[in-house]
Amino acid sequence: MKTLKIGICGWGNVATGLFKAIEKNSNLIQLNGGVNLTIDVIGARRDNPKCNPGKTKIERDIFDVIKHDIDVVVELIGGVEVARELIIKAITNKKHVVTANKAVIFHHGDELFKLAQENGVKILFESAVCAGTPIIKLLKEELAANKVSKISGMLNGTSNFILSNMEEGAEFDSTLKLAQDKGYAEPDPAFDIEGMDAAHKIGILSSLAFGTSLPPEDFFVEGITKIQKSDFSYAMDMGYTIKHLAVAKINESSLELRAHPALISLDSHLANLKGVRNGMEIDTDLIGKIHIAGSGAGQESTASGLISDLIHLSNTNEISDQLYKGDEGKYPVLDFSNLVFQYYFYIEAEDKPGVMASITSLMASKEVGIESIVQKEELGDSCVPIILITDPFKESDHAELQKELLNLDSVRAIRSIRIEAK
Ligand code: HSE
Repeated sequence: MKTLKIGICGWGNVATGLFKAIEKNSNLIQLNGGVNLTIDVIGARRDNPKCNPGKTKIERDIFDVIKHDIDVVVELIGGVEVARELIIKAITNKKHVVTANKAVIFHHGDELFKLAQENGVKILFESAVCAGTPIIKLLKEELAANKVSKISGMLNGTSNFILSNMEEGAEFDSTLKLAQDKGYAEPDPAFDIEGMDAAHKIGILSSLAFGTSLPPEDFFVEGITKIQKSDFSYAMDMGYTIKHLAVAKINESSLELRAHPALISLDSHLANLKGVRNGMEIDTDLIGKIHIAGSGAGQESTASGLISDLIHLSNTNEISDQLYKGDEGKYPVLDFSNLVFQYYFYIEAEDKPGVMASITSLMASKEVGIESIVQKEELGDSCVPIILITDPFKESDHAELQKELLNLDSVRAIRSIRIEAK
């Protein structure tokens, strides 16, 4: 039986989860993976009361882990610049690297993969996207013979957890707190709810599927903080729900890359994935559409992805499966303002004659068609919500239209959400 000697850097939620999962499932890992995983050293700046590492050697300086006789450094410190430094040091000391750190791969992937290739070692990062739900190896290996044209889905477990709870009537703040307590959220939850975490993940998937660079060119990112509970009931009346979607899609010879909330049809596969689950739809030429879904955050799911990388490492020698594809991405990222969407508008207006007319005539003057417009039950204070679904129009006209609608005398508040085409 082969042995893979591991040094873990970091001793937080994810690292202790890995330690416990290796301990718990070591027989299974030996049977299924044909490898004995041994944790020889842990780089822990401080003890973690939630996990006793037993007799495992502890280094207080995480960089000292690399000095040990180990095959692989598992980087679980998070953050970007120190993690980059640690990975570079591991690589130049000829250690393989396994990481769950999407931010460091997103910002420095090309540099790190190139360096790994030059040093004859690997960087594996299955858990960086959707935790243990297997998407990285799926794209790199199982779908290697396919031309992928689109990847879209929910890549942030915390956002999906919050939105699907709001769909059931929960409040945003209490649900975020619950996600934090369950260990789904990032140390700074702004990364989850402002869309950056999903953006990191779609950037990485785009690099795998379409050869875009890491870091990618700037692309449009918006989070879920402006979504209100009432938007769900209005959306549902029209056959939609609301999800945070990340999309990478070939559009002729350019790439659509974006991460933002969207109304999606209730009968779509993604609409039914609730809670912390991540879900993706992948369009391919040979198999057609593939759906993959599973837990995308949390200690155990992340440990599962990390262990799959460690097993993979011990069973493959060649380094040809590195991500690095040269200095240039194949597809330029399309300017978001040139994309076309249908929009959902929530307009809070005074309940008086002529309001609808003022809205529809403004829309007509802007040459934006209306698919439907409905006045809902009064909110009190002589105020009514008006729900408007537009025909498709260009993103570049969206902000101006919203501003002009808000400037109408009788309009008190407005918000909008893009509608994802089927
Ligand atoms: N905070 C992340 C999420 C964890 O909610 O999906 C996994 O990246």
